[in-house]
Amino acid sequence: MDLDQRYPAISDLRARARRRVPHFVWEFFDSATGTESVLGRNRRALDQVLFHPAILEGEFTPDLSCSLMGLDYAVPFGIAPVGMSGVIWPDAERRLARFASASGIPYGLSTVASQPPEAVGPEAGAMGWFQLYPPRSPEVLKDMLARAWGAGFHTLVLTADVPVASRRERQTRGGLTNPPRLTPRLLAQVMRRPAWAMGMLKTGMPRMRTLDRYAEQKTSLPQTAHVGYLIRIMPDWDYLGRLRELWQGKLVVKGVMDAGPVAQLEAAGVDAIWVSNHAGRQFDGVRASIDALPEIRAATRLPLIFDSGIEGGLDIIRALALGADFVMLGRAWHYALAALGDAGPPHLHDLLIKDMTSCMGQIGARSLADLSGRLACQQGA
Ligand SMILES: Cc1cc2nc3c(=O)[nH]c(=O)nc-3n(C[C@H](O)[C@H](O)[C@H](O)COP(=O)(O)O)c2cc1C
Repeated sequence: MDLDQRYPAISDLRARARRRVPHFVWEFFDSATGTESVLGRNRRALDQVLFHPAILEGEFTPDLSCSLMGLDYAVPFGIAPVGMSGVIWPDAERRLARFASASGIPYGLSTVASQPPEAVGPEAGAMGWFQLYPPRSPEVLKDMLARAWGAGFHTLVLTADVPVASRRERQTRGGLTNPPRLTPRLLAQVMRRPAWAMGMLKTGMPRMRTLDRYAEQKTSLPQTAHVGYLIRIMPDWDYLGRLRELWQGKLVVKGVMDAGPVAQLEAAGVDAIWVSNHAGRQFDGVRASIDALPEIRAATRLPLIFDSGIEGGLDIIRALALGADFVMLGRAWHYALAALGDAGPPHLHDLLIKDMTSCMGQIGARSLADLSGRLACQQGA
């Protein structure tokens, strides 16, 4: 099968993925919170970032390489952490980590993934980043950091934009619980998705395995909350300070959406800032991530990682042109995996490279450093 012909864009992978995962899983993974206005806002704002096409530049092959936090990468994109990734496609965490290691791109493992760091670290090799939802108890925090480090994760990402649980109405309507409980309605959906169902029979029903050993923490807290939220707190600057003391590797703070906290983040010793609106899953009243990027770029020399709504190579170069050093994608990798199994991530990787190469050719950008000079405007800015 010629993947380029059948799935030339992320939208093609998304359409096929939708036909291969049960509806309640789709509603979990493809949704945002509230009226989901952020999804459209991210898209519209990205579309407003425009470039000057170049003429008479002669032949060249654009160089997509970059460096981030002391490491060199052949391409400036990677895999963002996605909680319960293994419910979207069987064994998604290990499959994506293996692919990331083989292709030399970062892989973010979520605290609330369905596989623990011990199972994923060896697959990710040097490419693993561990994403932290900050545990309440200092003992749990220390234990989790030691486990992540021991499993080979040497970059820690503190997600700071989940101070409280978001509502995710569409996900709730879809019926996914944690752990997933197969009601007759959900079972009927599963029966219509044989490839997903067969895979799940092999891996078992996913749950948040990193948290298994802390489950007893649950007893002191409300019955209604699931363990993922029970171990989390709303962290503060002191928490970040303690984290900086405890973690010897690179430390990234994810979910920064304005320049306000930047100086304090620098002072706290973080190694990079991750500009993200969590793809609209946390707060429906936030602006588009790409709109926040220029002011954050102007406020710091720290490396900036960017995500939210990336749908192709053009979006990647848009973010890089506006000051990002690196771009992450969350859902797109899962569309690829659910659509095509293990053939999906390499196809998406290839597609993004082709897209970037074509767009950079159009605007005469020989390297990523040339991108900002080719910006025409950010319409409406
Ligand atoms: C299903 C799903 C689960 C997610 N879980 C997490 C998570 O556990 N931790 C986290 O920091 N971000 C999480 N994110 C946000 C991603 O890391 C990333 O910010 C976002 O997906 C990027 O936007 P994109 O999906 O449009 O590429 C999740 C996103 C999705 C779609």
